[in-house]
Order: sequence, then structure tokens, then C-alpha cells
Amino acid sequence: MEFLTPDKTHDEARQGEALVLEPGEKNLGRKLYIESYGCAMNFSDSEIVASILAEKGFETTSDFNNADVVFINTCSIRENAETRVRNRLKEFAYAKGKNPGMVVGVLGCMAERLKSKFLEEEKLVDVVVGPDAYRDLPNLIDKVDGGQKAVNVLLSREETYADINPVRLNSNGINAFVSIMRGCDNMCSFCVVPFTRGRERSRDPHSIVAECRDLFNKGYREVTLLGQNVDSYKWSATQSADGSEQLVDEPIVNFANLLEMVALIDPDLRVRFSTSHPKDITDEVLHTIAKYDNICNYIHLPVQSGNSRVLELMNRTYDREWYMGRVDAIRRIIPDCAISTDIITGFCTETEEEHNETLSMMDYVQYDYAYMFMYSERPGTLAAKRYADDIPEPIKAVRLNQVVAKQRESSHYRLQQHVGRVDRVLIEGFSKKSDQDYCGRNDKNAMVVFPVQEGYKPGQYANVLVEKCTSATLIGKII
Ligand code: 5AD
Ligand code: SF4
Repeated sequence: MEFLTPDKTHDEARQGEALVLEPGEKNLGRKLYIESYGCAMNFSDSEIVASILAEKGFETTSDFNNADVVFINTCSIRENAETRVRNRLKEFAYAKGKNPGMVVGVLGCMAERLKSKFLEEEKLVDVVVGPDAYRDLPNLIDKVDGGQKAVNVLLSREETYADINPVRLNSNGINAFVSIMRGCDNMCSFCVVPFTRGRERSRDPHSIVAECRDLFNKGYREVTLLGQNVDSYKWSATQSADGSEQLVDEPIVNFANLLEMVALIDPDLRVRFSTSHPKDITDEVLHTIAKYDNICNYIHLPVQSGNSRVLELMNRTYDREWYMGRVDAIRRIIPDCAISTDIITGFCTETEEEHNETLSMMDYVQYDYAYMFMYSERPGTLAAKRYADDIPEPIKAVRLNQVVAKQRESSHYRLQQHVGRVDRVLIEGFSKKSDQDYCGRNDKNAMVVFPVQEGYKPGQYANVLVEKCTSATLIGKII
């Protein structure tokens, strides 16, 4: 809704009399509650949403019972993620019953996947908004205020929200996510993301560096650069923010270049990134990580399966040998680098022998950490169209248990390597268990707990002698 004529600036309008309220004024003091599920990208998107609505006068609240607008930013990656959201919506419905003026909205991947069907299925939802349509939220809320339901699930080839300065939600003021690209062009056959988040597009590197510098100036000491496939980040200066072509004499910026640009902001700003795709991660990226101390020695390199036939069915476009070759390159170029992974058990037609190759891959890499899942068929994906989901759930579960058990050993082995070493830890705050202890991460992303010591506070680095480890945590003291 437009309140101002084009020849009238907002300031002029404010000075006038008998004015129609600007949207910002109309919503002044209205409370927004936003809850996020799924990947880090969703959490980052919620900060963009909060920023767009803060511009229009909304304040965020942590209590949905008192909120005027309740948003749930959803994930579709596995069926149980969607089930959790549906259950949560029932709780919001109860709150809405007591406060009928409350606007309830579904954002993100489930909104994109189910579109207006959501409004019919879930009668208590007022707004459905896909990941590329967040700029439209103020208009959509207006529409709901006017008594209508509102949907915008248009995907974009250009939208990167580059100019939006995210409001940091639930922040410790030390680590922040920075989105560097959106969407995914890979079409892994099991994955719904290319359908819910659309085509891949990279964000202007200057806006990324500006956001990271601003975070550093505000006291943040760690940024995680986010994309579904960061290694295919590519910005050509002939591309302007609105997607139109311009002639500018500047070279292409690839992911290695971007990492370097962010690392150069300040040696005290730690740089992390996720997710790397085994088919795209280059030696140039590895050399850049090795070159800068403040780029963390930690790579999330999802393998999905250790068997080449299954990888082909998954359309991952690499095989077992290629993946091992990339791991060898990491070990060669960055000798002390943590590697984590994602693994799916019981993908269509996977045999016992093929599953065993996933286990032997785990032995080969000895991952520091892993996210492990049973295959969950997602409607509309290539796998759902082409292959039967033919591995019975109990077998998927047995395989998952084997993978989890192996990972437990491997994580413990990796943590033990730190015992007796001195790790540089970025202090994040008090430990969960005691305010006598601080916690923070070393550069390989392992959690370290150690007694509070005078002169050290959150946001500072400490050299910690690691004395022992539990199954998931290193324990030591500042030296
Ligand atoms: N079933 C199970 N796991 C999946 N993932 C993506 N799609 C599915 C699915 N349909 C996992 C992959 C991916 C991670 C983010 O989620 O391992 O890397
Ligand atoms: Fe999904 Fe594959 Fe893209 Fe990751 S790289 S988001 S698994 S399609």
C-alpha cells in the first residue's frame, strides 16, 4: 500500500497536516514474535524479516502470547521437520483463540512447498510467505489487517536482501550468520531445497564485507558465511544489485576471494563458512584457509553416502574416489583441519554392502562431527519421482544407529587429540552448567569449558590448556 505521492518526500509528508499514517507509524509498537526451524539460513532469514518489519515500527518479543504478529519460519527438508511445525501451529492457534487480532504467518520452505494450500489446510494461518518475498511482508500484514488472507510465494532470480541490515535475534553479540548467497542449483535427488529456495544467486561481496565490518565494529568476533553451496559463490562486477548487466572493469569474485576479503577485515574476526560441496571445493579455497589464521580450520563437507552407485542415484555428481581425493587435499593443504559431514541412511535401493561403504568412508575420514539422518522421501523431488522409497524404516534405523555409534567413537577420538594442547578459544559466555565457568569454541568448532579468570570476558580470546574431554566437550584452564 502506498501512502505518499511520488512528488512528496516522507519528511515533507510528516510536516504536513491531516496526514495518512505511514506504515511505520501505523505499526508503531506492534509486537512481532518469530520462531525459526531448520538450517542456519532460516535463522539468518528471520533476522532479515525482523529488520524489514522493524523499519515499519514492529518490535520483537520473546513471548508469542503477547504478540500481534506470530511468524514461524519453517523447514521442509524431512517429513518430521514439517510435523513439528504443524504441532507448533496448533499451539499458536490456541493463543490466537484468546487474541483474535493476532496475525499468524508461515514463512520459509514449507510456505513455498505448500503455497496457498496451507491456508486451506491450516485454517488458522493468515499469511503464507516464501523465502524470496519477505520485502512484501508489510503489505501482506496490511492485507490481513484488512480482513483478507495473504500469500506471496514468488521465487526470484535476483533477490539477495543485500541492502538489508539484519536485526540480530537471540544474539550473544559475538557470533553472527551472514548470508552470502541464496538458493541452490544442484538438484540432489533427495532434496527439496532447489524447489523451496529457488535458483542459486550470489550476493554483492561489497555488501557482505560491509556487513561483516559493521559486526566487527559492534564487538562481534565471529562470522559464519552461509550458503547452500558456498564454493559456487560467484559475483561478477557486471552484475548489479537489481540483476541488470553493467559494464564495470572489475574481476569476478569467487569464494576464495570472498573469504580473503572478509578475513582481511581484522585478524581478530574469525571467519567460518557452510556448506561446502565436495564437487566444488577448490584447492584455491583450501590454500586461502591455510593462509589466514582467522579463517577457521573447519570444513563441513557433506558426503551423504560412501558408495558411488548411491551417490549417482542421489545426483551428487561425485563418486567415492573423488570425495576421498578432496579429503586428501584438505589433509595435505591444511594438515590440522576439522571435517564434519551429513549422512543419509537407507536411500532408495541402498544395499547392506553399500551402507557398509558409508561406514568405511567414516573410518577413512574420521569425521570430527556428523549430522546423520534416515532418508525421508519429499514430494516433488527427483528421487520421489524416479525411485521407490524401498528400504523399510526399521532397516534405515538400524543403519542410522550404526552410523551414529561409529561417529560417537570418531568424535571422541578427535576431541582426545586436543588433550594436552593449548587451544585459542573465543569466549562466548558462561557455560550452561555454571557461572564459574566460561565456554567458547576453538577454531575447529569444538566446545571448550574452563574456569572464569579475571581479566577475561566474553568476546575475547583465551589460550586454554586442554586437560581432558567428555563425549562432546573439551575441559581445561586458561594459561
Ligand atoms: N531425507 C533425509 N535427509 C535429507 N537431507 C536433505 N534432504 C533429505 C531427505 N530427503 C539432509 C542432507 C543434507 C542435510 C541438510 O539434510 O544430508 O545435507
Ligand atoms: Fe539440497 Fe544438494 Fe542443494 Fe544441499 S547441495 S541444498 S543437499 S540440492
